[in-house]
Order: sequence, then C-alpha cells, then structure tokens
Amino acid sequence: MTTITLPALGSDETLLATGSGMLRVPGYSLGERTIQVDEQVAIGLVNAARSAAESAYAPFSRFRVGAAAVMKDDPGERIFCGSNVENSSYGGTICAERAAIFNASGQHLRRIRFLAVSAPATLDMPLEKRSPCGLCRQVIREFADEDTLIICDSGEDGVLGDVLDIERLLPFGFQLAKG
Ligand code: THU
Repeated sequence: MTTITLPALGSDETLLATGSGMLRVPGYSLGERTIQVDEQVAIGLVNAARSAAESAYAPFSRFRVGAAAVMKDDPGERIFCGSNVENSSYGGTICAERAAIFNASGQHLRRIRFLAVSAPATLDMPLEKRSPCGLCRQVIREFADEDTLIICDSGEDGVLGDVLDIERLLPFGFQLAKG
C-alpha cells in the first residue's frame, strides 16, 4: 500500500462592486487529502486502460482512449473497461471513461474506487491532452466520493500517471438532489 497525499487548495471569496450589484468570485477550500492506494491495483488498472484503448472504434478522430475502473461496492474487485466508440452522427460518440463507468453501472455498481484513463497517442503531452473531458468528469462525479482517485496515464519516463480526486478534476461540478 502507498499513501497518496493531495495538497490543500483554496482561496477566499471576493466581492466586486458593479453599477448593478455585486459580482462574487466564489471562495474555494479543499483540505489536504490522504488516500491509501494499492500500487498493484493502480498498475493493473493503467495497463487495463491501455489494453482497452486498443479496442477503441475511432475511425473519425483516430484518437483511441481506454479506461478501466474498480468499484468500491464490488466485492469481486473486478476491472470494468471501456473504450471510445465513435459514430457517424458524431453526437452518438461515447468516451472511454463513460463506457467503463456505464459497464460497471450495468452490474449495479455505483461507487468508483479507482479509474484509470489512457490515451496512448498523447502520453507524453500535457495533462489536458490525456485527462477526461468535461462530460466524463461530470459522469465520474456522479459515482465518485472523496476517496475516489482518477489516474491519467503518462508516458513520461518513470511516471505511471497523474493522480487526482474528483474535486480537483471537477471543481463546482453540478449536483442535483436525488428525488
Ligand atoms: N474521448 C474519450 O474517449 N475520452 C475523453 O475524455 C476525451 C475524448 C474520445 C471521444 C472521441 O472518440 C475522441 O476521443 C476524440 O474526441
């Protein structure tokens, strides 16, 4: 087991007076988080995400992505994989992360422990080229809690990936009260 510490982040709220009312810049406060990670699970998931990318159907963008998730509520600790599936309509395309999460959800599993994502073509590039898109961030948020970790595969020498939690991946993510 390895302990991962995500640093505290924060800024105070500020109010700016305008002629027609205040504009508020919301304050933001994230405490330091310490999460226990099994390195073997992390390595296994990154490798599973890399393999999943091989089955991407990406004839339009040629950009292959793979994702792999382990769910907290799965006693079997199975790995759920997904890859992007594009569509002629473009809008019908599904990303790898959502494919993996929906695969787990189809087994009634709704709490992500660890999600790895790999876009082999951009491994050496900055994080924004190989981290989940906004839509996937919102979907990850639905099934994430404060201990959920997202690892973005990296091709940098000696770096397995970049690790984030949901608050760092999607600050102010939308949340609707459950009915
Ligand atoms: N894609 C993903 O699979 N995941 C992301 O987070 C970003 C984008 C896919 C969708 C599309 O098939 C291709 O990458 C180009 O956007």
